[in-house]
Amino acid sequence: MIDGVIRLQFDRPLDPNLQRLAVQLEPPAAVIFDVQGDELLLKPRDPLRFSTDYTLTIAPQEGLPLEQAIQLRFRTEPQFTYERDIKPLLEASCVGCHQPAGRQRTQLLDSYEAVLAYVKPGDPKSELIDPRWTRRHAT
Ligand code: HEC
Repeated sequence: MIDGVIRLQFDRPLDPNLQRLAVQLEPPAAVIFDVQGDELLLKPRDPLRFSTDYTLTIAPQEGLPLEQAIQLRFRTEPQFTYERDIKPLLEASCVGCHQPAGRQRTQLLDSYEAVLAYVKPGDPKSELIDPRWTRRHAT
């Protein structure tokens, strides 16, 4: 998630009036926080970057029962994924023919593995949108 909430649970209730929190996110991004019982809720003020490794550091400070700094590392989600973004498009427009029971049964587009014959992850020059092929699909 790029705008999710990180919940940190402590072994005792936190000060509900905690006003300031020294928390650092790297690469730098502003973080807002809230206290709910024994949980500290942290949320980026603005959405984070996709596919990025972040480190969150909270140092011991007044009002927080921390003996030493804690560091959390996480990686944000990719902007696009096959399952969520690409597969529905292919199923709506392509898989009717490009599947074992379709007209184009030798050039499959019905699975991630099959699609990799035409796409290199991360490379915007996908063969799927190469004019060489799209022209043959004019109708
Ligand atoms: C109505 C059937 C049909 C649909 C729908 C269809 N195709 Fe095709 N596709 C074909 C046929 C037939 C060929 C072979 C054309 C040729 O070789 O002249 C082909 C060839 C291709 C090729 C070249 C494959 C190779 O390895 O030679 C690609 C890539 C391709 N299609 C992508 C797509 C994509 C992406 C979609 C959806 C946006 C799609 N096709 C939808 C029938 C279809």
